[in-house]
Amino acid sequence: MPYGWYGPACGGATMKVTILPDATAAAQHAARLVADHLCAEEAPVLGFATGETMRPVYAELVRLHRLGKADFRRATSFNLDEYAGVPPDHPASFARFMQDALFGQVNFAPGAINLIRGDAPDLDEEVRRYERLIDAAGGIGLQLLGIGQNGHIGFNEPGSSFASQMRVTELAPSTRAANAPAFRPDPVPTHAVTMGIETIVAARHCVLLATGTAKASAVARMLDGAVDEGCPATALRAHSATTVILDPAAAALHWQRRQV
Ligand code: F6R
Repeated sequence: MPYGWYGPACGGATMKVTILPDATAAAQHAARLVADHLCAEEAPVLGFATGETMRPVYAELVRLHRLGKADFRRATSFNLDEYAGVPPDHPASFARFMQDALFGQVNFAPGAINLIRGDAPDLDEEVRRYERLIDAAGGIGLQLLGIGQNGHIGFNEPGSSFASQMRVTELAPSTRAANAPAFRPDPVPTHAVTMGIETIVAARHCVLLATGTAKASAVARMLDGAVDEGCPATALRAHSATTVILDPAAAALHWQRRQV
């Protein structure tokens, strides 16, 4: 398996697939793309994902920030999703995750961090509020993404329309199982608020990071399978600028298929 990048290999003329020697190098590369975006843009608008895959990305961004190589002062941020009914100070909330992993350690300006309130009394109104904020910021410039084992992006589970907007959605049983440890001994929420697939692909650049064997099948489906709503991540194959960053374990099944 080569390290480095190749493309277009996956149906979309603009999808770039980058395979790096290990998960650490993959996360560092994703962080580097964010840092480059911060440098290149006058008013960078970042879309963040949460999940275990993202922890080393944020750790690297904090490291770069301390070295003076990632300045968030002019940036605005949005997050992909949040659990419905979960307040921001809940230990398993995505708000708390972001605060601990990144926001508490870098220099966003006051008011520049936009989080979804999972405990808002009216989640439909919360969705409208958040969409207005994204529009007012001029849309998302760089959107970081992970991928679920079932091919979800954000919390757009298989079957989500490619035209879906931000909304309240029901989590798949496999997603609830994967996220159970953070809530134990309580049950995982059944619903979440998520940016829709159309919201995600409206970002000017999408960066999807997948590492580890557990993601190999979803990655192969995303890159080599039919573009359809059975695998939400395949929507990225039609996006104008997506970078997929993989470690060898996550790339393994895709790579095998390229050899036959
Ligand atoms: C989280 C999100 C999800 C995760 C995905 C992978 O904000 O949008 O789509 O990116 O579930 O999660 P991990 O990295 O924990 O495997």
